[in-house]
Amino acid sequence: MLTDYSRIVVAYDHSELSKKALKMAMNLSKQDKQIELLVVMVTQPERPMVYSYGYAFEAYHEKQREEVKAIRNELEQELELLPNKTRTFAVEGNPGHMIVEFVKQNDADLVVMGSRGLSGLKELFLGSVSHYVVQKAHCPVFIVK
Ligand SMILES: Nc1ncnc2c1ncn2[C@@H]1O[C@H](COP(=O)(O)OP(=O)(O)O)[C@@H](O)[C@H]1O
Ligand SMILES: [Mg+2]
Repeated sequence: MLTDYSRIVVAYDHSELSKKALKMAMNLSKQDKQIELLVVMVTQPERPMVYSYGYAFEAYHEKQREEVKAIRNELEQELELLPNKTRTFAVEGNPGHMIVEFVKQNDADLVVMGSRGLSGLKELFLGSVSHYVVQKAHCPVFIVK
């Protein structure tokens, strides 16, 4: 059954649930070293996660790029623990659209992601990105909560 999922994509935003999703996907991948694990992070250059006044856009953008690089390094160290083929990706754009597109382009068999992310809004069960991906992805979506 597990070998049906030979290419797994983790949607990662550095939230606690996305870390849990990564762990889950790594455990799934350990079942078979033929499984490929791709981790995708989408940044929105026009929408800072933390707004700081007085920040020029370019300076902000540069800081965001550095943060993404640091997170990718962290991820890559963790992924090295697996015998599987793994890769991390950082793309810019609308997270839901970019994740669905990435999953399609890479012909993934499974997406693993959190039910919630960084927004901190708790009134709905699913965050907007996970809601969008569940509806639009061509393959099964494993929602971690
Ligand atoms: N920018 C992003 N890049 C990659 N994955 C993301 C991104 N934003 C959200 N996700 C994925 O979607 C899950 C749910 O997040 P989201 O729908 O944004 O909820 P919230 O509304 O609480 O932020 C996260 O745990 C993560 O797996
Ligand atoms: Mg979010």
